[in-house]
Amino acid sequence: MKAIGISADAAGHGADALVDLELAAPAADGQDLLVRIEAVSVNPIDIKMRSARPHAGGQPRVLGWDAAGTVVAAGPRVSLFAPGDRVFYAGSITRPGCNAELHLVDERLTGAMPASAGFAEAAALPVASLAAWEALFERMHVSATGNDAGKNLLVIGAAGGVGSMAIQLAKAVGQLHVIATASRPESQAWCRELGADIVVDHRADLVAQLAANGRPAVDFILCLSDTDRYFPVMAKLIKPHGHICALVESRSPLPMNDLRGKSASFSWEGMFTRSLHATPDMLEQHRILNRVASLIDAGQVRSTVKHCFNGFNAASLRRAHALVEAGNAIGKVVVTA
Ligand SMILES: NC(=O)c1ccc[n+]([C@@H]2O[C@H](COP(=O)([O-])OP(=O)(O)OC[C@H]3O[C@@H](n4cnc5c(N)ncnc54)[C@H](OP(=O)(O)O)[C@@H]3O)[C@@H](O)[C@H]2O)c1
Repeated sequence: MKAIGISADAAGHGADALVDLELAAPAADGQDLLVRIEAVSVNPIDIKMRSARPHAGGQPRVLGWDAAGTVVAAGPRVSLFAPGDRVFYAGSITRPGCNAELHLVDERLTGAMPASAGFAEAAALPVASLAAWEALFERMHVSATGNDAGKNLLVIGAAGGVGSMAIQLAKAVGQLHVIATASRPESQAWCRELGADIVVDHRADLVAQLAANGRPAVDFILCLSDTDRYFPVMAKLIKPHGHICALVESRSPLPMNDLRGKSASFSWEGMFTRSLHATPDMLEQHRILNRVASLIDAGQVRSTVKHCFNGFNAASLRRAHALVEAGNAIGKVVVTA
């Protein structure tokens, strides 16, 4: 089968290390689905995996953890899907990625694609939706039944892939009042288009801007950028008993005592935690993706594809990687077969 990855003898780990490969097709066993990939999207994790992990030698590395495609075969213990089903998923970071013609994924990590979406739209959803959903409704315990309606959420770095879904899910499911941060006219306009109630600039004083907007403190903060840099300002802006959730690993220990006086909570969100540790509730990702699909089909949430490259090959993937690696993507970057 065709795949795109980094060959065993690659000299570097830049985007130009991505090459077209010919690999043996995998076979489905256990609870695995064999999926014919129709579209993938690129995330910052692709850049990290491409750049940072030392090359073990021997086997080429295939990246990609955001996929949409069609089930072509199912392992003997599969009960949720059948050949012909259209599915979307992030999968597991411990397995080869989805930048391949055929790909294996555990059915418990897989959702049924929104009926109203094409493959490109669906491929843009899994990582961002799972990360945003888990952060909001599991880590920070925002009510998914409207009991927190009107409470304030600050999303730092809101115009990117995760933020674009977080704004929408916070509005559609949590009924929260959303304050988004974005630094450029086009990223600010995008946040407003997705439903943010207030947009402020993370390159200016956040405390002053929130006060000027009549929201000097907030109930929830979702940090999608430099956690070390934003921790002090988050500690100032969080309300007593509020909750902060960060997705980006810190470079140094965080000053947790800054939250003590307010009895505020801090959580990490890692959307690969369930698959990485095969947690007993892995099936939750199947449920979350299905819930997101129903929100898309109901027109309450939309896919956030901003760039789409046609042609499932190394040239397209390199261009997609370059856009994400620049660090200022708006919405999602997708490559279709
Ligand atoms: N833990 C997890 O499960 C998980 C899952 C997914 C992603 N992540 C991580 O979460 C982060 C966000 O992911 P993503 O896919 O949304 O990334 P992304 O799409 O690449 O994010 C791009 C956005 O980041 C904003 N940005 C750039 N510099 C910023 C700064 N200094 N402060 C605030 N915002 C800034 C930009 O907004 P402006 O152009 O307006 O400045 C841009 O719109 C990444 O670090 C990623 O690795 C973690």
